Amino acid sequence: MTNSIKVKTREHAYRIHIAGGLLQKSGEMLRKLFSPQTHIGLMASKTVEKYYRGPVQDSLEKAGFTVSFFRMPTGEENKNMETVSSLYDALIAKGFDRSCLILTLGGGLVGDTGGFTAATLYRGIPYVQMPTTLLSQTDSAVGGKTGVNHPEGKNLIGAFYQPEAVLIDPAVLHTLEMRERVSGYAEILKYGFIRDREFLDRCIADRQKILELRDMDYLGGVIRRSLEIKAAIVAEDEKEENIRMLLNFGHTVGHALEQSSGYGTFRHGEAVLAGMYAALFLSMESGSLDRRTARHYMDGLTSVPLGVSPGEIDTAAVYPALSRDKKRRGKRLKFVLLDEIGKASVAEDLPGDLIRESISRTQKAFCREKGQ
Ligand SMILES: NC(=O)c1ccc[n+]([C@@H]2O[C@H](COP(=O)([O-])OP(=O)(O)OC[C@H]3O[C@@H](n4cnc5c(N)ncnc54)[C@H](O)[C@@H]3O)[C@@H](O)[C@H]2O)c1
Ligand SMILES: [Zn+2]
Repeated sequence: MTNSIKVKTREHAYRIHIAGGLLQKSGEMLRKLFSPQTHIGLMASKTVEKYYRGPVQDSLEKAGFTVSFFRMPTGEENKNMETVSSLYDALIAKGFDRSCLILTLGGGLVGDTGGFTAATLYRGIPYVQMPTTLLSQTDSAVGGKTGVNHPEGKNLIGAFYQPEAVLIDPAVLHTLEMRERVSGYAEILKYGFIRDREFLDRCIADRQKILELRDMDYLGGVIRRSLEIKAAIVAEDEKEENIRMLLNFGHTVGHALEQSSGYGTFRHGEAVLAGMYAALFLSMESGSLDRRTARHYMDGLTSVPLGVSPGEIDTAAVYPALSRDKKRRGKRLKFVLLDEIGKASVAEDLPGDLIRESISRTQKAFCREKGQ
């Protein structure tokens, strides 16, 4: 049985389907939305191709579709316009037109890049996301943010462009490295922090069960709850004009850590996890979050094993990365803080000294946990 959630924005509505074994049913699922004459551009990285291209392509061809495969490069450094430009060339060369479909099979990198290609080729062709990392299954595949990086910063080029459907098969997570699973787990905790304390407490208590994929039905439920929260927020504010900003909890310091350490040092979610520690500290010092509660959850975060220690990053470089980001966007530096666990709001103009302290406290806390 597939478990489905409806996502509704002002101009578009689509469904997210979650079920083990969905990969093998992708053809059948897509036949409900597209005619068998549809030419499908299937995009995946080499690793994902090795494991999952076969079953997906078989299922699509069995359902009558014509499939062309496009191998995607890996690494943040290849999430750029050059990759998009080669995709345009290859898609045009293979005769893709407005009646075609792009199917992204992979993590956030393939989803964001393939989605942006779909958003811009011929002013927009349909695309469907089949996310294969825990991060993309709980976050990036839903919500319509597509795009690529620019040498000046992450995701500076992009479009809000919603997919026609999102097909999630949690069984593919068995081949995903533990570090990548932890990265997705951080975004799951984020939803709990901003919207659902009970869900947060459960995900903290059940960390091993989630990360070790001990119970796939339970994991499907965790993915579902994460996406329900995301879908509700996106339905209210697709273009991030107000409430969608809450999804950036932990991301202000998180992005600064990613940028100042050089992309690739942290997995996105690892930096966000450390960023959530900083945001809890700020919520406790400058907002209304009760101290004991904040401490309890901060300790919970530092017990999550990260592949890199935030303490190894030069503290002096992190704060300037925050300010550069602010300058570039021509906006004031914003932080998502918690008034209580499960209830978030946006704060501006926090004192620079306090922000600096939140960064150094975060770095120390994660060092201590590593026994340094
Ligand atoms: N659009 C959004 O709303 C949004 C939200 C969060 C993050 N992002 C973006 O997502 C990207 C990060 O995505 P990610 O964390 O999914 O990483 P990723 O896409 O870089 O994938 C990580 C690695 O895992 C491999 N992989 C993927 N699925 C696998 C599987 N099932 N088994 C084995 N290996 C597998 C990939 O080949 C890759 O090497 C960043 O570029 C970030 O900016 C976008
Ligand atoms: Zn994120």
